[in-house]
Amino acid sequence: MQFVDAHGARIPQVGLGTMTLKEDVCVEAVKAALQMGYRHLDTAAFYGNEVENGEGLRASGVKREDVFICTKVRENNLLPENFNKSLDQSLANLKLPYVDLLLIHWNNKDIPFSTSIAALCAAKKDGRAKHVGVANFTTTMLDEAWAVTTEPLVCNQIEMHPFINQDKVVAKSRQHGMAVVAYCPIARGKVPGADALERIGAAHGKSAAQVSLRYLVQQGIVAIPRTATPAHLKANIEVFDFALTDAEMAELKALNATNMRVVNPPHAPVWDTP
Ligand SMILES: NC(=O)c1ccc[n+]([C@@H]2O[C@H](COP(=O)([O-])OP(=O)(O)OC[C@H]3O[C@@H](n4cnc5c(N)ncnc54)[C@H](OP(=O)(O)O)[C@@H]3O)[C@@H](O)[C@H]2O)c1
Repeated sequence: MQFVDAHGARIPQVGLGTMTLKEDVCVEAVKAALQMGYRHLDTAAFYGNEVENGEGLRASGVKREDVFICTKVRENNLLPENFNKSLDQSLANLKLPYVDLLLIHWNNKDIPFSTSIAALCAAKKDGRAKHVGVANFTTTMLDEAWAVTTEPLVCNQIEMHPFINQDKVVAKSRQHGMAVVAYCPIARGKVPGADALERIGAAHGKSAAQVSLRYLVQQGIVAIPRTATPAHLKANIEVFDFALTDAEMAELKALNATNMRVVNPPHAPVWDTP
């Protein structure tokens, strides 16, 4: 496993996304993933599976301190009292005293950053989060958040795959020294079957999904693909034993023009335009 370093956080470059994984399916996926070498779990209060992430962690036999665990606080819980309740419930669900990374899941435009970012920073100061960061922040939001934060924001978790252009927000995240964490790195299942990715994969003896993940990790981006299928779990960490050529990277980059955004809920911000 490779790592991405940002402001003192050492983030395993491929993690297990667990959104939609429920009950035993989630416990078994987390357990299997950790036993085959994953060291990074991505959950959220909103996913309703923190209990199962914690159970899978304990069932795996892998030491807690060897695993990087991320959870998130929703946009409707960003006032300090609600924020603290949400985080305490997350820790109780996970049966852990701290998480490695705590994110604001989505901004709430009605709550100033001076309030929400302060609540986030307080969780780092009191030890409930080793590191803090954000998700779904635009370039403007990143600058505004950095203007008030007292702790480094170590990552911006955003949608990234070959079919979306995120150049501006990636550049801005990097300008602030943040890691970029790619959610929907397989475009929520739209990568398998895509001609260019299948063809490039065939040239390397890899699947289209592995090409999509390689495209991201080769740019120094963290990816958190989600699957409960054992063969896919294994495939998704086998992306460090091949490299895409410059021409292949350029061909995949050209697909960014598709500009397909898979995740765009009503509370989403006004996204950066390509
Ligand atoms: N911060 C946010 O707002 C936010 C938003 C969305 C997601 N996320 C996080 O990002 C994670 C990943 O995103 P996602 O779950 O939306 O989408 P994703 O990981 O891009 O796609 C998941 C889909 O890809 C398939 N898949 C996975 N590995 C595969 C492989 N090797 N070969 C073929 N198909 C494969 C899965 O099917 P099988 O189950 O059949 O393998 C599943 O249908 C989430 O679980 C969550 O942790 C965060």
